[in-house]
Amino acid sequence: MAKRFQAPKGTRDLLPPDTALWAAVEVAARRIFGIYGFREIRTPIFEETELFARGVGESTDIVGKEMYSFVDKGQRSLTLRPESTASVVRAYVEHGMQRQPQPVKLFYIGPQFRYERPQQGRYRQFHQIGAELLGGRGAESDAEVLLMLVAFLKELGFKDLNVMLNTVGDSESRTDYRERLVSFLEARRERLSEESVRRLATNPLRILDSKSPAEQELLAEAPRLRDSLTAKSAAHFAAVCRTLEQFGVAYEVSPRLVRGLDYYTNTVFEIVSEGLGAQNAICGGGAYEGLVEELGGQPTYGVGFAIGEDRLVEVLPADSPAREQASHFAPGPVVVAAAGRLPVKVGELSPLFSLVERLRRLGIPAVEATGRQENVFERANAIASPVVVFIGQDELQSGRYSMRALESGERGEFDEAGLVRELKKYFPVTSPSQRGAGTTTPPADSVTEGEE
Ligand code: HAM
Repeated sequence: MAKRFQAPKGTRDLLPPDTALWAAVEVAARRIFGIYGFREIRTPIFEETELFARGVGESTDIVGKEMYSFVDKGQRSLTLRPESTASVVRAYVEHGMQRQPQPVKLFYIGPQFRYERPQQGRYRQFHQIGAELLGGRGAESDAEVLLMLVAFLKELGFKDLNVMLNTVGDSESRTDYRERLVSFLEARRERLSEESVRRLATNPLRILDSKSPAEQELLAEAPRLRDSLTAKSAAHFAAVCRTLEQFGVAYEVSPRLVRGLDYYTNTVFEIVSEGLGAQNAICGGGAYEGLVEELGGQPTYGVGFAIGEDRLVEVLPADSPAREQASHFAPGPVVVAAAGRLPVKVGELSPLFSLVERLRRLGIPAVEATGRQENVFERANAIASPVVVFIGQDELQSGRYSMRALESGERGEFDEAGLVRELKKYFPVTSPSQRGAGTTTPPADSVTEGEE
């Protein structure tokens, strides 16, 4: 037997009906982000490796250990994007978006790649729904993206959101804090793990993120970043908090939240969900005041977030409107089946094939099924079909079709116009173009959706 293949470790296939749910989640994102004035950007799946090294930071786990980098046939070092903020900023600079009216508001939906140890909620190819606001105005912009994020999650039916908020200060605050933290930890070096000792030299703030209980205990006594904040950073953070309160967004200040990417300044945040186990962050983000300049642009205020779509779908509430929506825009098709044997001459189309295509041209999803009645119903159930239409000898002669609604068991007999009217009741959302219907058949490529 030939070798059978599996999806590579840490990747997975998304199959129907889950794909419809993902699409429904994305429709909700587009709707809410649109209300806030964000428009879609699509950047390449791979970029120059140096973009991430410079953007995300050499000392981060992402750049140090997790990148899918390769040399192409032209000897360029390229990397599958591990995140999209650096790419969006690259595009902002490359296309001169700084000269457009500010802020520029962009969102993206798509796969990201990190070589991590796979576990529940952690994949090597995962998907993010993210947004970046560039050329913004400090605290107000931070609050704006947070309000949009919360509005989106509420739209999906999330009720108790744990918004964790912190500030990592501006660069002045951080320089001061780094010195104080390093001297505190240096004096207690023997209590640190090997990893943390390494970080002491490269990225000491990341030690605050340690999961080890012993280190957590030690860190409880460590100097606090809050005490190193410049007056400007403190005022910035207070303004973000105030705005969230004003608009009724509950949050928790989480002083040890530092995030794993280097570009953040001032506001950082995560939203965590209880249903996810160890990988509990469904979303992370924050402001970045230096990144645009770091990537060759003018100094520009940026802030954004990315939601892990895999995790989001995993903890989507049972009563999420996205579930209802998913069933609408991927409705199971009408099943058209033969009742008994149908006379089909060699070289001629079967009546099933013709009816199915006529229905499709009217925007009614339809598929053909053959075989015994039990099999037809089994297939109809498997693809969540609402109705089965039968064509038999009698129907061919009389021009009337019999129809069975699967949920109610109701039966009926209709001529073709009546059948179409009846079937349309099941497909309110995918209602089709009426162009040409009933008169001449439109060419396949002129059948457009949603003209009603
Ligand atoms: P991040 O925290 O690295 O931030 O990723 C954001 C979210 O992506 C995480 O909260 C998580 O839900 C999801 N995620 C990350 N890694 C994985 C994985 N291996 N498997 C499944 N889900 C994962 C960023 O990527 C920043 N670019 C966010 C941002 C945008 N900051 C400012 N603008």
